[in-house]
Amino acid sequence: MTLPLSNIRPDDPGYELVRKRVLELTGIDLNCYKRPQMLRRLDAILSRCHAPNLQALAAELKPGSEVLKEFMERFTINVSECFRDRPRFEQLQREIIPALARRNPALRLWSAGCSYGAEPYSLAIILKEAGLSQARILATDIDPKILEAAKAGESFTANDLRNLSKDVAARYFTPIAGGRFRAADALRPFITFRQQNLLGKPPAEQFDIVLCRNVTIYFTEESKDAVTQHLTSTLRPGGILFIGETETIHRPNRFGLALKSTSFYERAA
Ligand SMILES: C[S@@+](CC[C@H](N)C(=O)[O-])C[C@H]1O[C@@H](n2cnc3c(N)ncnc32)[C@H](O)[C@@H]1O
Repeated sequence: MTLPLSNIRPDDPGYELVRKRVLELTGIDLNCYKRPQMLRRLDAILSRCHAPNLQALAAELKPGSEVLKEFMERFTINVSECFRDRPRFEQLQREIIPALARRNPALRLWSAGCSYGAEPYSLAIILKEAGLSQARILATDIDPKILEAAKAGESFTANDLRNLSKDVAARYFTPIAGGRFRAADALRPFITFRQQNLLGKPPAEQFDIVLCRNVTIYFTEESKDAVTQHLTSTLRPGGILFIGETETIHRPNRFGLALKSTSFYERAA
């Protein structure tokens, strides 16, 4: 698919003004993201906010402003669904989690870039079904608004549940108003939600499984490497890094990782 080019020139001086304001207000450094994608998103934000240029946009980027909200909405792409890439999730459920739980049933999982929660609630379903009541999931995202939705666990549509069997969907999701579904209370004690920028400091905890899926696609190669380093540093020896269907880690041994099977990398024991 060829994406349309942005109307903003790559050397537009307003870009640096926007970058500085965004960094001050959100801790997000646009230099860590691929420039062409950022320009396309800024183009969309300019027309949504009726701003004539990037200088005018930068002036409107203020704490709590509509323009800042619009920026966050367009910048963070929140697409997700339960058991996304179902064959890999089934492998996680059938092989990877049982093997790690045999060593230590109090598993620690981290869903990095959890969006509105489809990923951590999917993990909670697996843990609940396996009777791993001592296991816990940390779910993080950079976007505070999407994290609020994840905590509420009420943003799921029928499409989010399409990879679940009818039985499992009925056991863990209840229909609510507006065609939405609410995640069951039984799943909630497994998950702690926290705001976190993957390009900042890693969490202090150590994990058996880290999921970072469909988050770094717009990061520069340098930032991707920094994130892989950061994620690996939180993995216990023998722990697993689970990435997205369209992603790969080049020369994983640079990070002390080995490809186990498609989408799964193991940290050297
Ligand atoms: C497309 S969603 C992926 C959701 C889920 N992991 C999945 O694969 O279905 C990407 C998420 O990454 C988050 N994100 C983007 N940049 C981030 C960063 N620097 N640190 C943490 N989260 C980030 C976005 O807010 C968004 O919710």
